[in-house]
Amino acid sequence: MKKPYVYITRNIPEEVIAPLKTLAEINVWEGGNKKVPADILKREAAKSIALFTTLDDNINKSLIENSPNLKVIANMAVGYDNIDVSAATKHGVFICNTPGILSDTTADLAFALLMSTARRIVEGNQFIKEGYWKDWGPLLMVGRDIHHKTLGIVGMGRIGEKVAKRAAGFDMQVLYHNRSRKEEVEETLNVTYCTFEELLEKSDFVVNLLPLTEETKNKFDSTAFSKMKNEAIFINVGRGLTVEEDDLLDALNKGEIAGAGLDVFRQEPISNQHPLINLDQVVAVPHIGSASIDTRYAMMRLAVQNIVNVLQGKYPEAYVNK
Ligand code: DGY
Repeated sequence: MKKPYVYITRNIPEEVIAPLKTLAEINVWEGGNKKVPADILKREAAKSIALFTTLDDNINKSLIENSPNLKVIANMAVGYDNIDVSAATKHGVFICNTPGILSDTTADLAFALLMSTARRIVEGNQFIKEGYWKDWGPLLMVGRDIHHKTLGIVGMGRIGEKVAKRAAGFDMQVLYHNRSRKEEVEETLNVTYCTFEELLEKSDFVVNLLPLTEETKNKFDSTAFSKMKNEAIFINVGRGLTVEEDDLLDALNKGEIAGAGLDVFRQEPISNQHPLINLDQVVAVPHIGSASIDTRYAMMRLAVQNIVNVLQGKYPEAYVNK
């Protein structure tokens, strides 16, 4: 009997794909980390029972409607804003993600960005590498304290809770804003619920962990930045489109806020010519929130397992259809 066809949009290790091999004919995109062109993805999806995708594969309504055999799309990410979930649900396609297993790693990155922006780690590194370090100075490369400051977390999901846990070790006061209050988390992690505005006004560090939805799009705009303290640092490990980048640039240039640590951008990859990237007070990394070896392997394995389950007639381990 002909095996069902599965398309994988990134070159992932053989050992990770192995559990799928007995169940399906596998085709792996040959372009490595290069994104699959839309026309190839659409053509491949049309033949597939399952797709293994990543967060920059655009899975739109037309692709889904054009793929009659499709039963499951396993996105290797916790976010799934690259997929039209309602079209998929209408066509009986499971949309799977990889929640939980990346929370600690992503919280580590949020903290790494926070610390490197506040303590000017990247600037200091450049300073030495470019041969500028000639003398020690009392105010040379002075940054901002992290300990005992106020951290505001916007979007208190699994990753937010892990960020709050780390903040406790730095004796920080933690505020949070979320679409719903989480009283249990308030008690266990000693965090305080605030309105969005109150959080912006009171925080020394604002960490954005919002997923992209109609409600969160452009949430951080000029009004939001103008409410923040002039000494505050903005960290974005959520999604790029939740931030009006031109407004962020203005706020940094006008000194309305002191710095930004950014993992995600409106347009990814962001150009190295983008004015945000060239500000000293901005630390930018290429969407690597979950990028530790252990976590990325765990994410790939879970994505594969989600497909295996569906091919075996079971429910996936993690899916987001309602
Ligand atoms: C995700 O999984 O959605 C993250 O953005 C990856 O770093």
